[in-house]
Formats: sequence, structure tokens, C-alpha cells
Amino acid sequence: TNGVITIDPGYKNTGSCESAITFLDGEKGVLRYRGYSIEELAEKADFLEVSYALIFGNLPTKEQLDKFHNDIRDHSLVDDDVRKILEAFPKTAHPMGVLSSLTSALTAFNPSSVNVESREDMYNAIVRIMAKFPVLVSWTMRKQKGMHLNYGKKSLGYVENLMFMMFKQPNEDFVINPIVKDALDKLLILHADHEQNCSTSTVRIVGSSHAGLFASLSAGISALWGPLHGGANQAVLEMLEAIRADGGDTKKYMEKAKDKNDSFRLMGFGHRVYKNFDPRAKIIKAAADELLNDLGVKDPILEIARSLEQEALKDPYFVERKLYPNVDFYSGIIYRAMGIPTEMFTVMFALGRLPGWIAQWKEMRLNKEPIGRPRQIYVGENYRPFVGIEKR
Ligand code: SDX
Repeated sequence: TNGVITIDPGYKNTGSCESAITFLDGEKGVLRYRGYSIEELAEKADFLEVSYALIFGNLPTKEQLDKFHNDIRDHSLVDDDVRKILEAFPKTAHPMGVLSSLTSALTAFNPSSVNVESREDMYNAIVRIMAKFPVLVSWTMRKQKGMHLNYGKKSLGYVENLMFMMFKQPNEDFVINPIVKDALDKLLILHADHEQNCSTSTVRIVGSSHAGLFASLSAGISALWGPLHGGANQAVLEMLEAIRADGGDTKKYMEKAKDKNDSFRLMGFGHRVYKNFDPRAKIIKAAADELLNDLGVKDPILEIARSLEQEALKDPYFVERKLYPNVDFYSGIIYRAMGIPTEMFTVMFALGRLPGWIAQWKEMRLNKEPIGRPRQIYVGENYRPFVGIEKR
């Protein structure tokens, strides 16, 4: 503080806005979207219904949901030139970089999504990105796997259509596995919003300059990519694989995580707000158990995750710092059981978070929030005269 400006690194104690979208209580482990608890939504709603509630404020009537879904179906075609941009990427490109680029590129094919002054323009832009994003998600996975790209089927539901585009193999019938569909709905719902996290704050601040919705989302995807944020779900699996390759020596990795000279962190542990359990992690852990049992999958990685959690919950270092498993700790185990590659885990997080980002961007624009422009405390050089290069 210099009397006028207070510096708050990482905005740990700074509120950026008033919002009516998501309520979370870090002490009590409470999370609600528009007042509805995630426990009830995860059990009783599907992802498109929850997306509607987040974006428009209330759970939809059947008519409202049908209209939203029909409008989405009518705009689910992605321009063939976007495929050419996708094809230009090397096979080794990380899917998050591809997704962020293609999302921004969509602006070029949907110019009306930029100047959304009216609510109608806003609705049209929202419908277009809700329609095209699952296509981009499926394309990034099929590109990464070197498989041909699928187009959706209008007869399918929102999540069923995503599964069709992601998993349909050529000249094979595609059957929706209801267990997988329910697990996917649940996972996407649990990722749908989380108030002013890093990527949502990014979407809001980029949108505050009145950049278009797709450009704001593209920025949010980039922020989510980081291993300290959404990228943690990929980092968790890489960590668990490393522990398994190391003979399951969880203690060694716990020590590394506690060693101040070692930058290694126990990925999937800790949270800025939850200082008890992350309510999402509890539900996802149960869903992982259920799905692996239902699919008859025995995954040694799950056992390692469980023993790591047990040990960390007893270890004073983690207990003192209130470090518990977060949303990213078990989610990758479910994606893996579904045959989703590790590098695609954060893309799945981005799809889940899409309605939350849209809702937050819309609220920021409708509230006519000012452009985001923090101040600083200058700690650099005082005035000094220019010196010619011959004298430096
Ligand atoms: C998400 O904000 C959101 O809501 C995000 C999210 C969402 O839905 O949008 O919930 C999604 O991003 C979940 C978090 C995923 N990230 C990880 O799992 C990466 C590992 N976790 C950490 O990097 C960390 O816990 C953060 C980033 C999640 C939170 O960091 P903070 O709040 O800035 O805490 P900090 O870095 O100041 O740590 C406090 C102390 C430090 O020790 P001391 O310096 O006090 O001795 O706890 C230690 C840290 O070293 N610590 C860890 C640790 N997390 C914190 N030590 C080992 N392993 C860890 N995972």
C-alpha cells in the first residue's frame, strides 16, 4: 500500500464484481448455481438444462429448453474452412492450443457475434457458440488421435451428440452407453461455473473491453490451460502415472511436494477458496468408483489416487495448509475410463465451463461493467537521461 493503491497479488482478497450466478462457501464446501445446489443438479438435471439455468437465470420449462436446443441444432454446422485451420496444426499440437485458436477463428465466420449490443444479438451469439463448441471439442480429440472428423446428428441430445462426434468409429454402429452419458453429464455439470476463478476473470476482463464473445472465450481457454488451473486434471494423471512407474511410491512424491526447493506440487490438491473439501471432488470420486465398477474397469491409477488422498489427509503439512483433493483430482480417472486421451482432459473442463463463462460474460455486459484496468505501485528506476549507445 502507498496510501492510495493496495497491492493484492493474485487478487486473494479482492472482489471484482457483484454476481448473481454462482455462490460458493469455501469453509462449508457449499456450491450453488443460481441458488440450485450442485448435488441436486448433478443428480437430477442434464448439462444443457444446467447451462440454460446458468446463462438465463432459472431452470428452463420444457418449452424453453426445447427452443434453446432447437436453436442450437440449427447452428451446429462449423464452416469447412475451420477444418482447414485445424488441419494446418501439427498432430503434436496440444488440444487446448487448438481449441483456443479455433474458438477465436469462429469470429471470422460469425461476425455478428462481435457487436452484441442488443439482447437478441447476444442470444444469437450464445446459441452459435453453444452449438459449435462441442464440434470443436470432438474435432480436437479426433485430430489428436489421427481419426477422421465426425459431424453431429440432429436427432441426438446435446451430450449424446458430443459423444457421437467424439467416439463414433467409421462403419460401426454407434450405441450410447447410458452409464457413460450420465457420468459425462455429471462431470460437465460439476465444471459448469465457479464464480471468479482465473479463467472466468479472464473472460470478464477481456469482454470488458467489448471484445466479442468468442474472443473472450478464447482467452478464457488459454487461462484454463495452465497446470495450476484447469490443466491440473492432465497434470494429476501424469503425476499418478509417474508414481505408478516409480513402483507406487506415493511417500516419495509427498516428500517432493513438501520440499520448498522442489517446484513439484501434489497436483489436484489445494484450492484458493475451499479450505475444507471441494464438494465437486466428493461427487466426482463417487462417480469414478461407480463408473469403473459399471464398466468393469480395474484401474491401478485409481488405487494410487486413493492411497495418495488417504496419506495426504493425515499428513501435517497438508492438514496445516488445508490442502484437500479438488475438482481435478479424480476427474481424469473418469475421462480415462471413457477412452479420452490425457491431453484432452482440460478440453473437457473447458466444455463444462463454457456455460459459466458465457453467463459471466453476459452478466458483465448487461451490468455495463467498466473496462478492467487495475493500478500498480511503481518500483522501477527514477528519471535518468538518455545515453547514446557509444557511451553505454
Ligand atoms: C482449479 O479458482 C478456482 O475456483 C479454480 C477451479 C475452478 O473450478 O475454476 O476450482 C479449478 O483450478 C482447481 C485447482 C487445480 N490446481 C491444482 O490442483 C494445482 C495444485 N494446486 C496448487 O497449485 C494450489 O493449491 C492452487 C493453485 C490451487 C491454489 O494456490 P493458492 O491459493 O495461491 O495457494 P498457495 O500457492 O499460496 O499455497 C499455500 C501454501 C503454500 O505453502 P507455504 O508457502 O505457505 O509453505 O500451500 C502450499 C504452498 O506451497 N500448497 C501446496 C499445494 N497447494 C498449495 N503444496 C503442495 N502441493 C499442492 N498442491
